Formats: sequence, C-alpha cells, structure tokens
Amino acid sequence: MRITGTFSEARALCSGRVALVPTMGFLHEGHLALVEAAREGADTVLVSLFVNPLQFNEAADLESYPRDLERDAALAESAGTDVLFAPPLEEMYPEEPATWVSLAALSAEMEGAHRPGHFDGVATVVAKLFAGLRPRRAHFGRKDAQQLAVVRRMAADLSFPVEIVGGPTVREEDGLALSSRNIFLEDRGAALALSRGLFAAADAAAAGERSGAKLEGIVAAELLAAGVSAEYVALADAAAATRISDLGREAFLAVAARVGAVRLIDNVWFGPDGSADRGVRLPGPSILYGGN
Ligand code: PAJ
Repeated sequence: MRITGTFSEARALCSGRVALVPTMGFLHEGHLALVEAAREGADTVLVSLFVNPLQFNEAADLESYPRDLERDAALAESAGTDVLFAPPLEEMYPEEPATWVSLAALSAEMEGAHRPGHFDGVATVVAKLFAGLRPRRAHFGRKDAQQLAVVRRMAADLSFPVEIVGGPTVREEDGLALSSRNIFLEDRGAALALSRGLFAAADAAAAGERSGAKLEGIVAAELLAAGVSAEYVALADAAAATRISDLGREAFLAVAARVGAVRLIDNVWFGPDGSADRGVRLPGPSILYGGN
C-alpha cells in the first residue's frame, strides 16, 4: 500500500479501474466492509482519509473527532487498500472554497435540518474527491442514508462518470451501528434503544404495517422508554431523502438522538415490498476498542 497526500500523486499511483472509499478515518469494520466491496472488480482500491472541516457544524465535534493515521494505515492495508490518500488541509483547501455544491431539496429534512450546512460540506468535498481522483466507482455506507442519497444525486447532476455503490450498515454484536464516535459512549444501554426501536419497526413492517407514522411511533416509543430524546424519527424516500407517509418504494426509517455527549444516527432500509435490511452484525467486539 502507498500513502500519499497529494491529488496528483494519488492519480499517478492508480491504474485501471479505480474504486474509491471516502472516509474521515478512525476506521472500523463498517469502513473495512466498503474497502472489501471496493476490491471486487477493481484494479486499484483507493481510500481517502480526510476530516473535512466544511461538514462539521460544531467546532467541538471537529476538535474531538478521533484521529490516528498509523492505526488507520495498518487497517486499510490489511483490508486490501492499494493507495491511501490522506491530504493535509492545504492540499484539499489551498484557499477557502468559492465554489460550493449544495443540494437544497435533499438537505431540507432530517440530518440536513438538524445540522445546517452539513451536506453542503459533504457534497463539496466528495465532488472534489471525484474530480481530483477520477474513480470509476465509489462506495458509501447505508448507515448514512441521507448522505448516500445526496452523493448519488450530486454525481448524477454534475455528470461525474462514477458509479455510486451503497453498502449495508455494519453493527456491533449488540446491534449498535458502528461509528467512530462510539468510543466516546458512556451509556451504551441507552444507545441501544436506537437499533432496538428500528428492529421493532422492521418486525412490524414484516407483519404488514405500512404506515410511516406507525413505524416512526414504534421507534419513538422505544427511545422514550430508554429515556433518550430523539432529534427526529422519519420514514423517507431513499432517493429523494424526503419524508413519506407509507412504505411501498425504496425507503429508509431514520433516527437521530443524543446519548450523553454523543450524537448517534441509525436507520433500517426498506425495499418496495416492505422487506427490511437491518445490516450485518459483527461476531465479536469491534476493532474500535483496541482489539486490533
Ligand atoms: P465517515 O463517517 O468516516 O464514513 C465513511 C464511509 O463509511 C461513509 O460512506 C459511511 O456511510 C460509511 N460507514 C460509516 N459507518 C458505517 C457502518 N456502521 N456501516 C457501514 N458503513 C459505514 O461519511 C463520511 O465519513 C464523510 O461524510 C465523507 C463521505 C468521507 C465525506 O467527508
């Protein structure tokens, strides 16, 4: 594996069919599953690692975001990465960007409503990665369902010749969706209310429930019982990232909540027939906790 901090060297190190996995580092099995998926049919697997200040709407969150390049390089390499692109701030933003990519309609609800400017920052940095690295495919997790919708639409609208591939949410043994921020969780019991609520809603959908309000209510009740206050619970169209009233097309049921100092998001994905994809579970503790 080669490590580089410049766009030009990253391009020079890549050949053939390039598959890109954009990340902000502090890698876990969710990222590594994307790298493994990227490996298939690619000549070069390129992982980018950049904690993008443009998408952080809280200074404290940016400040405390975990960073460990040595650890990430070892994990990326073991998962089959060929090139690790870890640019310094000056390479990504030599100047404050005058050009921003903004998808107002896809950023109006859920994460977009609670994190003003967040998706402008995501869309802008991902557009820069696509333009500067020219991948043929790029892999994103369904864990960040609204982000996946934003990236798909941005790539289509701007005619980037890149195929966007979504990967299933990887969960810890107990159901909690993997996130680099999980290392800061103090009340794990409360955090589990998110996935428990989503799975209960998926069970209801499997038993025939189609109403968005009912499914959202099941998640909200689970959070309430655990003493967790939800920022939102929403059934949304998977492509438009806007709320819908019933199952019947590709959709996700998303939740966001703060547990102590940590803001968590999670979702389950629904097919048009109402079948749920709950993601995949690790058989043991995550590498996030030092087991690597
Ligand atoms: P980051 O949070 O590091 O996530 C990088 C990629 O890993 C994203 O596509 C995300 O959806 C995916 N991912 C995170 N947790 C996952 C899980 N538990 N299961 C499956 N996939 C998971 O998302 C970002 O970085 C940034 O916004 C980025 C796209 C890199 C732009 O800065």
